[in-house]
Amino acid sequence: MESPRVDAELLLAAVLGVSRGRLFVVDEVADEDAARFAALLDQRADRVPLQHLTGRAAFRFLDLAVGPGVFVPRPETEQLAGWALERLAGADAPVVVDLGAGSGALALSIAHEHPAAQVIAVERDPGAIEWTRHNAAFRAAAGDTPVEVVAGDMTDPGLLWGHDGDVDLVVSNPPYVPDGARVPREVADHDPPLALWGGPDGLDVVRGLLATAARLLRPGGWLGIEHADQQGGSLPALVRAHGGFADVEDHPDLAGRPRFTTARRT
Ligand SMILES: C[S@@+](CC[C@H](N)C(=O)[O-])C[C@H]1O[C@@H](n2cnc3c(N)ncnc32)[C@H](O)[C@@H]1O
Repeated sequence: MESPRVDAELLLAAVLGVSRGRLFVVDEVADEDAARFAALLDQRADRVPLQHLTGRAAFRFLDLAVGPGVFVPRPETEQLAGWALERLAGADAPVVVDLGAGSGALALSIAHEHPAAQVIAVERDPGAIEWTRHNAAFRAAAGDTPVEVVAGDMTDPGLLWGHDGDVDLVVSNPPYVPDGARVPREVADHDPPLALWGGPDGLDVVRGLLATAARLLRPGGWLGIEHADQQGGSLPALVRAHGGFADVEDHPDLAGRPRFTTARRT
C-alpha cells in the first residue's frame, strides 16, 4: 500500500465516528469496533479503495458520498476546479456545464464556491448518476445553489440543445485511459469502466466532447479538460485541430505532470 498507516487511521476513525486527528484521545476500542476495523483492514489489503470503505471522498471543501458504481474523485482534479473558479471570478450568473459528473465533484464544488453560477451536471452512466443526484440533493439541502443533474451522453449532438451558444464554461474530467493500459487493482476492479476507458489512444470520448463544448459555449467561453500524463501534447493538438478554439494551453498538476488542457471558444 502507498500509505498504510494513514489508511488504517482513517478506517479506525470511520469505525469510531471521530476525525483522524481525534484518534489520540481514544483510550479504548470496543470488541465489536475492533472486529469491524479488522474486517475493513482486510478489505483494504485486498485493494478495495479506502473511499469505498469509508463511503466518503474529500474534494476541495466538500465531503462527497461515494461507493460502488461511481468514480472516486482524485486530488489532481481539484486543480481543474480551481482553474474554472478563477475564470468565473466576478461573473454574475455564469452558465457552467460539467460533462461526465460522476460524484459531482467538479459541478458541486463550482456551485459551492461560486454560488451565483447556474451549474448543469451531465452523466451517462445510470449507476453513477444515482451518486450525482444523491450528492447534489445533499449539497442543495446544505444550502448550496442547486445543481441541475441531466442524464445524457456528452458526445450526443443534441445534448442540452436549449443551451447552444449560451454556456460560459464547460469543464470535464472524461474517461481518458487508453484501452489496455495497466491501472492499479483499486482502479481496475472498483472504478466503473465507463469512467476509465477512452478507446485506443484514450481520446475517443474527448473527440465527441469537443464538438459538444464548441456548440454549447458562447464566443469567449472557456473549456477545461483533464487528461492522462501522456496526453499533454495530443490533447492540446486535438483542441487546436478542431479550429473553434483559441488560447489553447496545457497545465501541469502539483507533481509537475501534464494534467489538463484549457482553451477559449472563438
Ligand atoms: C473520470 S470520471 C470523472 C467523474 C467526476 N467528474 C470527477 O472528476 O471525479 C468520468 C465520468 O464520465 C462519465 N462518462 C463517460 N462517458 C460519458 C459520456 N459519453 N457522456 C456522459 N458521461 C460520460 C463516466 O460515467 C464517469 O462518471
